[in-house]
Amino acid sequence: MNRKWWHDKVAYQIYPKSFLDTNGDGIGDLRGIISKLDYLKQLGIDMIWLSPVYQSPFIDQGYDISDYYGIAREFGTMEEFDELLAETKKRDMYLIMDLVINHCSDRHEWFKKALADPYGEYGDYFYLRKGKDGAPPNNYRSYFGGNCWEPVPGNSDLYYFHMFAKEQPDLNWENPKLRQELYRMINWWLEKGLAGFRIDAIINIKKDLEFPTLEPDGADGLAACWKMVESVEGVGEFLDELKENTFQKYDAFTVGEVFNMKQGALGHFIGENGYFSTIFDFSAHILSDGEHGWYDARPMEFQKWREAVIASQLEGLNAGFKANIIENHDEPRGVSRFLPEYARTPAGAKMLGTVSLLLRGIPFIYQGQEIGMENVVRKSIEEYDDISTIDQYDLARRAGCSEEEALAVCNRMSRDNARTPVQWSAGAHAGFTTGTPWLKINENYKRINVETQEQDADSVLHYYRRLTALRKSPEYKETFVYGSFIPVYEDTEKSVMAYYRADEEKRILVAANFGAEAVSLKLEYPVKKLLLSNRRQWTAGDELPKGELKLESCEAVVLEENR
Ligand code: GLC
Ligand code: CA
Repeated sequence: MNRKWWHDKVAYQIYPKSFLDTNGDGIGDLRGIISKLDYLKQLGIDMIWLSPVYQSPFIDQGYDISDYYGIAREFGTMEEFDELLAETKKRDMYLIMDLVINHCSDRHEWFKKALADPYGEYGDYFYLRKGKDGAPPNNYRSYFGGNCWEPVPGNSDLYYFHMFAKEQPDLNWENPKLRQELYRMINWWLEKGLAGFRIDAIINIKKDLEFPTLEPDGADGLAACWKMVESVEGVGEFLDELKENTFQKYDAFTVGEVFNMKQGALGHFIGENGYFSTIFDFSAHILSDGEHGWYDARPMEFQKWREAVIASQLEGLNAGFKANIIENHDEPRGVSRFLPEYARTPAGAKMLGTVSLLLRGIPFIYQGQEIGMENVVRKSIEEYDDISTIDQYDLARRAGCSEEEALAVCNRMSRDNARTPVQWSAGAHAGFTTGTPWLKINENYKRINVETQEQDADSVLHYYRRLTALRKSPEYKETFVYGSFIPVYEDTEKSVMAYYRADEEKRILVAANFGAEAVSLKLEYPVKKLLLSNRRQWTAGDELPKGELKLESCEAVVLEENR
């Protein structure tokens, strides 16, 4: 494997609206991010992914871009952005931005021009089609509910296509002019000094131009639009061209958000000459997909979770590096989702962090994860902001769920769980703002916040620092970055997630007991050194375990064993 500059990096996702507000308007801003760069550096972060900060009407929280060249005024100015970029570089950190190019906002000037003159130049930047007998061209259901086709205002028979909200019209990638416009924009940002991009919903750019009607899969008579994504061929040509015209020229780092990839295609996406540097591993997250989105989400089972993570790691071995996450801005908090109730404690949060951050691949930490932030309990649907949550709530109600039941699923699965402001202190509004936060702060902020954890050497925050430091330590870095992944004990232990990271030189055992009872593992190799534990602070004089390793409930350890 050819070595790349980004292979050994630890990344951190910032959701700017909820990170830190410095001017009291209740909305996080670029200044807030700049002021926390030292905090991130101390956490061992090398690379920052900024969720969208472009100009946007914020129908989908910035994933609806109205100007790709402008910074949202809610977040600050282009000068402040340049300052942020310069400040990250000063600290040897890399900045990547979200790249949302499957769709734009209906307020983008391209779309305004398209509506004004559907048969003119800009009409061809989008998918405009005639309806069928007064009905939309076909029956695809958008991700956020309703038909993917929306009537062009003031035009009786034309519709435009949108896979997400109706305010997010899909861009027509078949049009070479549109593609050139996008490449120009991407290169403009790379010229500025960005290290790369996280690339949004990118597999969706290829459409089946026949737009065949599909067998309905819901009471609404519609069929999920991702079924077209799964069946259509040819996205690779677009992705190759995109890379050749942009990222490749700058040796940029790219991480794709890719769902619905075809069997066996992984190498094309993340291999040596892949379309992207890496893609996110969602294999654990899709386990809770229900048949109709997430309102009918399945509960998480430890063994299925373990099986999914292991299978995905093994698949990655021959292909490239995956990007490993516990949570992001679209997912509930990992502590609330992947841990059984008895494990939703600081020890549990550390355990989950341990097994995730030491996997083979690029670790991404989502803001607040490093202090063990949790899901929020909301008492009414009015308390939600997220467009997708409101849709899933309505779906659940229409499917016969009571208000309480529908709300319970939102509390468990809503994207707003991860979008609440970062809890910086036990003070007013958790130290996030002096004004009124745009989204209600989790009531547990007095218990879970950065300031309190700073003062406690045993906190989740301090543990995350030790974890990244171990991963990046001169002695073990090579093995954590390039070593193989070998699962162990999965046949004999029902409650243990364990694996070796190993190369010619070293063998490291990562083992965690997710069960409620203590277990004892038979060690396969003699222990050389104790590297990390979430339950004790080891010192050089401690006795090494011999023959067996006892793990308490929610205990995670990292050991070096003989090769
Ligand atoms: C991605 C983003 C999500 C957004 C969607 C549409 O899945 O992560 O937040 O709603 O794309 O852009
Ligand atoms: Ca602000």
